[in-house]
Amino acid sequence: MPENTLTITDNRTNKSYTVPVENGTIRAMDLRQIKTGPDDFGLMTYDPAYLNTASCKSSITYIDGDKGILRYRGYPIEVLAERCTFLEVAYLLMFGELPTEKELNSWIYDITHHTMLHETTKKFMEGFRYSAHPMSMFVSTIAALSSVYPDAKLVRSPKDRMHQIVRLIGKVPSIAAMSYRHNVGFPYVYPDNDLSYTENFMNMLWKMVEPKYVAHPAISRALDILFILHADHEQNCSTSAMRSVGSSETDPYLAVASAASALAGPLHGGANEEVLRMLEEIGTKDNVPAYIKRVKDGHFKLMGFGHRIYKNYDPRAKIIRWCAEQVFEVTGRSPKLDVALELERIALEDEYFIKRKLYPNVDFYSGIMYQAMGFRPEMFTVLFAIPRTAGWLAQWEELMKDPEQKIARPRQVYLGPGEREFVPIDKRVPVPIPAEYPSH
Ligand code: SDX
Repeated sequence: MPENTLTITDNRTNKSYTVPVENGTIRAMDLRQIKTGPDDFGLMTYDPAYLNTASCKSSITYIDGDKGILRYRGYPIEVLAERCTFLEVAYLLMFGELPTEKELNSWIYDITHHTMLHETTKKFMEGFRYSAHPMSMFVSTIAALSSVYPDAKLVRSPKDRMHQIVRLIGKVPSIAAMSYRHNVGFPYVYPDNDLSYTENFMNMLWKMVEPKYVAHPAISRALDILFILHADHEQNCSTSAMRSVGSSETDPYLAVASAASALAGPLHGGANEEVLRMLEEIGTKDNVPAYIKRVKDGHFKLMGFGHRIYKNYDPRAKIIRWCAEQVFEVTGRSPKLDVALELERIALEDEYFIKRKLYPNVDFYSGIMYQAMGFRPEMFTVLFAIPRTAGWLAQWEELMKDPEQKIARPRQVYLGPGEREFVPIDKRVPVPIPAEYPSH
């Protein structure tokens, strides 16, 4: 019997089946041969929220959740955060290798010369209420770019895909900054091509009447490291949305908008904004034990804690804690850090969290740091979406080149009624609307 196989005995029929094991998986389609009779559809797997289902083969990001390991294209995240810039890492994610100096300079030139937005896009953004959430503006404006670049629909053309990829990586900081400036009622600031990717983002956010914006080096470096840490994370919820929506061959602007929509959720990228609200609600270290008790009583989750994959400390959270200290040396230490550290200390000693292997994740410390840099909580998830756009696009490019991939269309387990006779309206019996729905 070949060793890389699995033999399954169906006790309903006493038949045995041998299926190949590849990369630690069996193909779900190999289960369809397991039937109880000729009319049987065959076995499927049932895996709500895909707890144990690989949707694709990928060479981009590797995570070992038990050991707290994260690598982009084989390079440990700690090394990349220390030695690279964000655009250098975006190149690595996209093309699989770290760029030479010539390649990097050409990549930077291309991205830098795609930071402008059509004036019509500015007018589009001016239509939002001043109080519109920046993430809503970000998602909508990215989707609107689909109407600006009709060539984006040529998704089977590598040249056209790469053109959109460069446009999107270049434009997301501009859209993010314009969302912020719209919220605070300040005029938009045009990109400054003399500045680095991150410095230019800060320029478009914070330049006022000075002739030339000068970014604080410690702040721009900390932000660039945060961009590296948030760039990709294998098949998380938003990347899965990117792949699923992209599999219909829609254009990348609409696919990125769908991925950003998933990221906005408080269980995903929206958690960093919720962490800050949680720390503000707790207020002081003395209130931490009572708050932890409410979490353990199931009233709500401890935001910024826990992870589907990491059952150890999220390696990104450790680096963010270090980054925060660098920022606080410039901005002054945030009192919320003491509350966060106390929350972490108590949680990591508590059986409830130990048993469930709940540790701080990427969102636990990032919000405190963003606030110290001058960002409002509403901007935090937008700050996550900027670098993650490079990851979503790298995963999309991999999808488009994968001969095994086709339009995503999962099956279901149907538990509804069998065929029924039609009931004319005068013969129907009233069905009480469940109490949780508003009565008309
Ligand atoms: C990101 O996937 C990615 O890689 C995402 C991300 C990326 O880079 O793309 O890493 C970014 O999204 C980080 C996660 C940010 N979200 C939060 O911080 C929100 C709070 N965390 C939880 O909602 C939760 O931990 C999730 C959503 C992150 C993971 O949820 P799972 O894997 O579905 O785990 P679960 O809900 O099944 O929890 C298992 C148990 C449950 O208790 P029991 O029912 O077994 O008693 O752990 C408990 C949960 O109630 N639990 C928590 C908790 N997280 C899980 N209890 C209290 N506080 C928490 N934060």
